[in-house]
Amino acid sequence: MAAIEISKVVKTFGAVKVLDGIDVEVKDREFIVLVGPSGCGKSTLLRMIAGLESISGGQVAIGGRRVNEVGPQERDLAMVFQSYALYPHMTAAENMGFSLKLRNRPAGEVREAVLDAARRLHLTALLDRYPRQLSGGQRQRVAMGRAIVRDPSAFLFDEPLSNLDAKLRAHMRIEIRQLHDALGATSVYVTHDQVEAMTMADRIVVMNAGRIEQVGTPIELFDTPANLFVAGFLGAPTMNFSGGAVVRDDAGELRIALQVSPRTLPLPDTGSLDEGAEIVLGMRPQHIEIVGEDVQDGVIDAEVRAIEQTGCETNLIVAFGDVEWTIQSHHRVLAATGDAIRLRLDPARVHLFDKQTEKRL
Ligand SMILES: Nc1ncnc2c1ncn2[C@@H]1O[C@H](COP(=O)(O)OP(=O)(O)OP(=O)(O)O)[C@@H](O)[C@H]1O
Ligand SMILES: [Mg+2]
Repeated sequence: MAAIEISKVVKTFGAVKVLDGIDVEVKDREFIVLVGPSGCGKSTLLRMIAGLESISGGQVAIGGRRVNEVGPQERDLAMVFQSYALYPHMTAAENMGFSLKLRNRPAGEVREAVLDAARRLHLTALLDRYPRQLSGGQRQRVAMGRAIVRDPSAFLFDEPLSNLDAKLRAHMRIEIRQLHDALGATSVYVTHDQVEAMTMADRIVVMNAGRIEQVGTPIELFDTPANLFVAGFLGAPTMNFSGGAVVRDDAGELRIALQVSPRTLPLPDTGSLDEGAEIVLGMRPQHIEIVGEDVQDGVIDAEVRAIEQTGCETNLIVAFGDVEWTIQSHHRVLAATGDAIRLRLDPARVHLFDKQTEKRL
């Protein structure tokens, strides 16, 4: 397997710049997930790595070798698409072995490679079937098998699980990650599904409008999002936000005043916040506590707007002023629409962002 180095990569289609200075270093044997909203340039970047799209600026290197001018066949990569792109007139075995056959490998070698991949993917009993005789998940496996058989220097995936139902998706993401580990592969995986990104990646690259917002491990991005975009993109339900400012209370202590809450909140220990600084406060739905009358400091008074019971969790939609927040509790919360509710924010889990720059403070 091989490392992939993407340096200052730019892509323009005519006058439109869709990628603007992308730097990513995919280490050997790393599983990198490119994630971001529709149209941010994920597929374009992946296709540029694959050689299916020309590179307008910067450089892509695979295994230390510049490949800008190298055709897709010579890059030694295998790509798995959302559409599977199987040949309908070939059996699963023929689809999987086709690339080796094209390379004029001996029939025995092709058969062995196909059987080995089929064993790994639990496809042995299905090798003689045509794609139309396979379920979506099985077709997806054949597409994976075709990639494995090539023994490429890296795997590129573009939303390979989008066509599957939720249960199969959850199953396949574990399978793909296990295969990656077992094969000692290097993988670049594109998705807009933040759960896939969080659960599969060694490191996530969050993209937005042709640029990189942040690169880091799933936990780094979840715990310390670098800006408002990343904070709002990762995590479900999505992070709650409210505008506010740093104020000095009667005792001379710096506190946070939220725009719509009359009470102030303790300032988390971020170091250098000045009185008057305008901030956006972010709070994950899982980090808000519902408290009783006995708790006074740092409490927000809100009203319950809606309740969702998922069985395991309770989601409460609450409002204070014109702000609506979601709270997620692992307890069965007994509340009704219209109830008054008191919320406590754990200062250690408050995220603060600069209102102007939207960067983490
Ligand atoms: N051949 C092309 N000509 C012109 N513009 C293109 C072309 N291919 C892609 N684009 C534009 O480039 C941008 C990035 O597209 P891309 O397919 O990489 O997005 P994406 O992040 O993969 O989105 P999605 O999640 O919807 O698949 C989009 O604005 C798209 O319209
Ligand atoms: Mg895409």
